[in-house]
Amino acid sequence: MSKIRAAITGVHGYVPDYVLSNKELETMVDTNDEWIFSRTGIKERRILKDKTLAASDMGVKMVEGLLEKTNTKPEEIEMLLCATITPDMVFPDTANTISDKIGAKNSFGYDINAACSGFLYALNTGAKFIETGTYKKVVIVGLDVMSSIIDYSDRATCVIFGDGGGAVMLEPTTDGTGIQDSILRSNGHGRHFLHMKAGGSLKPTTMDTVAAREHYVYQEGRTVFKHAVSGMTSAVADLFAQNQLEEKDIDWLVPHQANKRIIDVVAGQLDFPMEKVMVNIHKYGNTTAGTLPLCLWDWEDKLKKGDKIVLTAFGGGFTWGATYLIWS
Ligand code: UT7
Repeated sequence: MSKIRAAITGVHGYVPDYVLSNKELETMVDTNDEWIFSRTGIKERRILKDKTLAASDMGVKMVEGLLEKTNTKPEEIEMLLCATITPDMVFPDTANTISDKIGAKNSFGYDINAACSGFLYALNTGAKFIETGTYKKVVIVGLDVMSSIIDYSDRATCVIFGDGGGAVMLEPTTDGTGIQDSILRSNGHGRHFLHMKAGGSLKPTTMDTVAAREHYVYQEGRTVFKHAVSGMTSAVADLFAQNQLEEKDIDWLVPHQANKRIIDVVAGQLDFPMEKVMVNIHKYGNTTAGTLPLCLWDWEDKLKKGDKIVLTAFGGGFTWGATYLIWS
């Protein structure tokens, strides 16, 4: 019998309506459009302005669209994973809140906290439940409401991040398409360079932590930049070696959208022409766990069955990796 693989049978994205442009950021912090665009490739990002809404509400939009596209009823979902670092609450998980709101009453699931690599980690976790024959319909959500943890007086971080994400449906296939192989890595030493200082058990929330603005993203940008380049390049190179692949065998490289300069260097080191690299950072910024599904959603119309795709990501933790799949 041919091997059961997890095929992506649908993708749907969502970004909030509000567009925060570089021009508007110029009125908020000491920055300018020229610096932001030349240093990051970002022109604008989306922000969830309505403060009564949260991560799960964006997730509901993604999954409802996905169910419509794949002609699936909510009760058919057997597993729903949500990759996010901006859950509705510290606990319970957002995956189950999404399942509750959409009526996926037979679904089992949980959140995965792997920052910008969250979607890649969740995709591979869900794929194992398909490959083992445990489940036949698994939904993977990757999203973040980064505006909820960004300090809009810190120019080093507030220009980079945005809100949004997407969801994919995983189903079994034996036709040779689907997820083929992955390399996933992490190194906890990286926590020093990208984290939120307070709000966890190490430093619970107090008036002092709030006054010290410790509930926002802290990032040592240059250090993270270097590790992001080497992490994504080496993960893809190792995945190529493990599968006897070369750049010319691959139709699309889908890199995490953290900085256009990082994408350019990674693509250059791997000899990928930019026509084969998905880039949408100019309109969404860095949506953390949302970037990879947002790329797949934006490129959905161009993807054909049999296309060979490599996804790669790097993020807080540090976490990183790459996945090779054949579009179904
Ligand atoms: O997605 C998770 C993983 N995250 C990443 O992969 C992000 C990796 N890091 C980066 O993308 C970049 O490091 C940043 C975009 C965060 C920063 O770009 P950079 O080229 O590394 O800038 P820098 O931090 O080295 O700062 C250069 C200068 C500094 O001024 P001085 O000290 O040279 O006078 C900063 O104060 O740019 C200044 N600067 C700004 N100027 C105008 C920093 N942010 C801004 C700003 N506008 N928004």
